[in-house]
Amino acid sequence: MKPLTNKHILLGVSGSISAYKAPDIIRRLQDLGAQVRVVLTAGGSKFITELSLQAISKNKVFDNLWDKEAELSMGHIELGKWADLILIAPASANVIANIASGKACDLLTSIILASDAKLMLAPAMNQQMYKSSALQDNLTCLNERQAVIIKPDSGSQACGDIGLGRLPESNLIANQVAKQFKSTQLTGKNILITLGATIEPIDPVRFISNHSSGKMGMALVDCCIEMGAKVTCVYANISVPLNQKARNIQALSGAQMHQAVFDEIDQQTIFIAVAAVSDYALKNPAKQKIKKSADNLILALTRNQDILADVCKLNNKPLCIGFSAETQNALENAKNKLKNKACDAIILNDVANAEIGFNSDENEVIFISKNQQQNIAKNSKIKIAEKILKIFIKEFL
Ligand SMILES: Cc1cc2nc3c(=O)[nH]c(=O)nc-3n(C[C@H](O)[C@H](O)[C@H](O)COP(=O)(O)O)c2cc1C
Repeated sequence: MKPLTNKHILLGVSGSISAYKAPDIIRRLQDLGAQVRVVLTAGGSKFITELSLQAISKNKVFDNLWDKEAELSMGHIELGKWADLILIAPASANVIANIASGKACDLLTSIILASDAKLMLAPAMNQQMYKSSALQDNLTCLNERQAVIIKPDSGSQACGDIGLGRLPESNLIANQVAKQFKSTQLTGKNILITLGATIEPIDPVRFISNHSSGKMGMALVDCCIEMGAKVTCVYANISVPLNQKARNIQALSGAQMHQAVFDEIDQQTIFIAVAAVSDYALKNPAKQKIKKSADNLILALTRNQDILADVCKLNNKPLCIGFSAETQNALENAKNKLKNKACDAIILNDVANAEIGFNSDENEVIFISKNQQQNIAKNSKIKIAEKILKIFIKEFL
């Protein structure tokens, strides 16, 4: 497994004479498994062409905050969310000053303000510029804000001076980027997670659904991505924002979700079924809105296919975790589910308690597998997700 597999690196190329080395930095990052997108500053574009960077990165190069098309979907915010790490190499004195003073004067600086991704800078400039107290103060300020500063090399410079300020070798920069990511047992693994409440249409305006918000599933999506997994998120009706680092596929009904899961399942190492899928769907949803008439209306329902059970029946089944939302005989029902569906682990969720489970920000669950039963005490859903994964990894990976 390459150290940057599945990692999204946003490379900022700014106006230094050493910007000509940017294509090589992209190649070295790609060699380590990274996906690279490039933001070119106005200064950077004087030293290297957009075309070279596009050809090497195999992606459109972003160079304009005022790009009407990109900003339709708030391009600068999206790029900030896409990035796992923002590397500026080379970082010009001007860009460093702008970032240190919190400016959002161009695309690159706007993305940096709008992103929570780790920031790394490789300053490259004339030795006197590098020594200047203004530049050094700006670097100290960025360092205090947890940015990683890659120390420049010393030697002869393009201008004829000798001293500190040269951009280090591309492979050294790429290796320093790789060091920022801790490898975990989920690094590079394909994980499919379903979440949310399915919607079964009764007629064009009404449906059968449930109270699931997608919060627990999204906490697992976030955690798996944080641990380096490549996550496919198949979601029904949810009240939480999607994680842009996942591959997101909407599947509203139980049948659509079954199809979406089976379209993807071959590639997966782990399947986590958190979605609250309706057990039944309308046999014949009405094509037109059902009008009020008789006092009683009987809707004929038909069983939906059981996604988790069907995945567990596959010859090359992935490791499977199911969720069991119960209101009574919780433990017994969950253990039966583990056995009947033949999955590897079941997470029991007592949804009768309004303080936990559906729609709440907290949860309290029991991890059940053939070999163990562990209570996970009440906590935020993100902490619960971390604990579920920790126990699962210890037993199965
Ligand atoms: C020939 C030439 C070489 C330059 N080299 C550097 C350099 O290596 N590092 C640097 O910080 N600025 C350098 N500059 C100055 C920057 O290009 C200038 O500050 C520019 O505004 C930076 O643009 P940016 O912030 O859009 O990247 C150079 C300027 C010229 C004309």
